Amino acid sequence: MRQARVLLDRNFTVGRVDPRLFGAFVEHLGRGVYGGIYEPGHPTADERGFRRDVLELVKELGVTIVRYPGGNFVSTYHWEDGVGPVEVRPKRLSYAWGSIEPNTFGTNEFIDWCRAAAVEPMLVVNLGTRGPKEAADFVEYCNHPGGTVLSELRKAHGRDRPHGVKFWCLGNEMDGPWQTGAKTAEEYGRIAAQAAKIMRWADNSIELAVSGSSARSLPTFGYWDETVLEHTFDHVDWIGLHTYLNNWKDDAAAFLASAEVIDAFIEGVIAVADSVSAKRRSSKRIMLSLNEWNVWYRSRRHYAHLQPSGWPTAPPILEEVYSVEDALAVGGVLISLINHADRVRSACIAQLVNVIAPIATETGGLAWRQTTFYPFAQMSRLARGDVLRARVDCETYAAAYYDPYCAEEFFHPVLQAPYVKLSAVANEAGGLTLVALNRDLEQEMTVSVNARGFGRLAPAEASVLTDGDLKAANTKRRLFG
Ligand code: AHR
Repeated sequence: MRQARVLLDRNFTVGRVDPRLFGAFVEHLGRGVYGGIYEPGHPTADERGFRRDVLELVKELGVTIVRYPGGNFVSTYHWEDGVGPVEVRPKRLSYAWGSIEPNTFGTNEFIDWCRAAAVEPMLVVNLGTRGPKEAADFVEYCNHPGGTVLSELRKAHGRDRPHGVKFWCLGNEMDGPWQTGAKTAEEYGRIAAQAAKIMRWADNSIELAVSGSSARSLPTFGYWDETVLEHTFDHVDWIGLHTYLNNWKDDAAAFLASAEVIDAFIEGVIAVADSVSAKRRSSKRIMLSLNEWNVWYRSRRHYAHLQPSGWPTAPPILEEVYSVEDALAVGGVLISLINHADRVRSACIAQLVNVIAPIATETGGLAWRQTTFYPFAQMSRLARGDVLRARVDCETYAAAYYDPYCAEEFFHPVLQAPYVKLSAVANEAGGLTLVALNRDLEQEMTVSVNARGFGRLAPAEASVLTDGDLKAANTKRRLFG
């Protein structure tokens, strides 16, 4: 049996877990919205068309903030299409996902849904095909109390109270050649700075996230983040990052080691952000928001998975079925995020329902939990408080993690991963939550913990996520009735 030793002290903290670390993402993509969170006529739907079976699962998952409406979708989105009387809202082509967007669900429905789900909204503005003025108009429509054309329009749409949306993202993946309106770092940095400036003029209480790298493996990583921050440093609070893990090689050990890539990504971006700050002799610290993260590869393999033919509405695309192995990888990412709680203050698992998601549904039918639901729900519930700086002594292993988006020279980066990856979080009631990922596929592990400054600790709750078959997946299960 493998041995690991952990030493920690209640006084040696990394930072406090920000509840926004347990966010998720809903995009107008596939059945994320239609047939996902929203399905008028579904047996569990409320009078607004919100699926109550899904709402129950979202609450159980412990989601705190939800990013919307995209994603690649947002880069051609006109927010005006999604507000006002539903009968006159336009149908549009969604180029990003080869689908028809009916716009029967838009910003006001989303805000209502967030209230029903007890989550904070996070909105993304289109900086692909639109600019700063439309972004500021969107802020005004949502957040201005009244007396202006756009705030009165919101009231005329039945929302008297301002939405008070705090968290705004400046575009989506603008560094990606696949993005509508993709830009160079200089182009994006300039437009993002201008958008941020006037969005804040529209409402100076908002928080703004500039789009950082869409993947650590993109050739522009580092340069992109530095350049956009040089332009936007004075105007933004956050840098948004995206990352999707894969097991293309079907190598479980390497896949489970991939959380080390997240660590390296986070630490690289902190270094870049702090160098921009240091050059300005500034004490300001830009916070990190992992705006999209998850395991995603099976439904990424073929173009047809991403672009259905015939312009359907809400096609079942990107519906990854997750295994136990995926759930362990998701747990590894969460451990990584928690251990960087001083700088990673927000993160959104991508996505929430059906589309590469912890919750799956049938249109007109059942809703159920995928395997990845469990680590997320448990950590959202239990990993709240002060993250401790744990010293973990255990052997490491070498793993060749394959990243298909890597530049040639970085193919198959070899990672040196400790067999155990662990987070320790002290809560206000004097308790301690330990989350450990055993990456040894051959044997069990004993972890002995020396927890100083806690007094006498006794186990209050313990659970293990495992299965003899790492490829096991959840089948659907009835929630109601
Ligand atoms: O989450 C699916 C897609 O992944 C998003 O639309 C995009 O931002 C990313 O490339």
